[in-house]
Amino acid sequence: MTPKAALFPLVLAAGLALAGCSKSSDRPVQGAAGPAQVADGAGLFTDHCQRCHGAGAAGGPFGPPLVHKIYEPNHHPDAAFHRAALGGVRAHHWQFGDMPAVPGVNTAEVTAIIAYVRGLQREAGIY
Ligand code: HEC
Repeated sequence: MTPKAALFPLVLAAGLALAGCSKSSDRPVQGAAGPAQVADGAGLFTDHCQRCHGAGAAGGPFGPPLVHKIYEPNHHPDAAFHRAALGGVRAHHWQFGDMPAVPGVNTAEVTAIIAYVRGLQREAGIY
């Protein structure tokens, strides 16, 4: 686990890029899920997301950490995760390049992945 102090400059830098990011005006309930869904989400994350976002969504050589302040629910609501998995993401916060759409995951599976990631974010004290 990266010490919080080491992440701080990164958070500041990311903060400067926040203006261009879409935000939903309504605030749906985030990550409302039972333990079974979180467990499914962990396995699905490993299969579909980990090679870029790293084990435990802590970041990797090809993608940013999702356990990070900028991906907390008020800035990247669950809908942003669905959009990312379904349609991909243009690089705008980081230098890893674009995220391609992830083939082979459906909406229910992404919902389970979100439950897992939100749990990790809460454990890390992000929100
Ligand atoms: C091929 C590598 C790769 C894979 C696989 C991948 N991602 Fe990403 N993802 C990225 C990169 C790179 C970014 C950062 C884009 C940027 O600069 O903002 C990103 C950004 C995101 C974002 C932020 C979206 C936004 O609106 O800014 C979410 C959410 C996300 N990924 C979720 C996922 C999930 C969930 C999976 C698995 C289903 C996944 N990613 C698989 C590379 C990947």
